[in-house]
Amino acid sequence: MSNESKRRIVVAITGATGAIYGVRVLEELRRHGGIETHLVVSKAGFLSAATEIDLGRSELQAFGDVVHSDRDVGASIASGSFRTDGMIVAPCSMRTLAAIATGVTDNLVTRAADVALKERRRLVLLARETPLGLVHLRNMVTVTEMGAVVFPPVPAFYARPESLDAMVDQTVGRVLDLFDLDSPLVRRWSGVKAPAED
Ligand SMILES: Cc1cc2nc3c(=O)[nH]c(=O)nc-3n(C[C@H](O)[C@H](O)[C@H](O)COP(=O)(O)O)c2cc1C
Repeated sequence: MSNESKRRIVVAITGATGAIYGVRVLEELRRHGGIETHLVVSKAGFLSAATEIDLGRSELQAFGDVVHSDRDVGASIASGSFRTDGMIVAPCSMRTLAAIATGVTDNLVTRAADVALKERRRLVLLARETPLGLVHLRNMVTVTEMGAVVFPPVPAFYARPESLDAMVDQTVGRVLDLFDLDSPLVRRWSGVKAPAED
């Protein structure tokens, strides 16, 4: 495969709770094979990974094929001429969401997201906060109008998850669906008969 036709996906982990989503996305892309992941983690993303899943900086970075510093705005993924299939921000903090919505490309996460939008590539944001304030909702509308997919990581109970891992995996599988990557993680709905009326 030539370097130019290689499939690549940018994955960012930011400081919302749920660093596990980013890790599982990276693991699943590696398991799938044939896709080079480009990982960039914000400062707060490293903090949440250390707090929530006990992963240090280098342990977290080991999940990416190519790793970039969030301060490296000269990295390959900062340019639209570097071809990728798009970007997943998992999880996406409200700060990063706001920066993307307003085009403030102050670090590599937000610059790479801006590139995905301007190049009309897939951009999926696992935006996480609760409850949502008006500015969060407005920013979600704005990025949706710009072409991004807002994908809050909320569990699907119809899938009858038996564990936290199963809940996370269902979300990760549905995110990969958006890149046309079929994943065994997804428990797919195949319809159900409505209960008989009394
Ligand atoms: C333990 C912890 C949990 C947090 N959870 C969230 C969250 O779920 N959503 C959010 O938007 N911000 C959350 N924050 C705040 C962000 O980390 C903070 O706004 C940070 O500046 C985001 O920076 P970043 O977008 O560059 O990663 C949390 C912070 C901490 C310390």
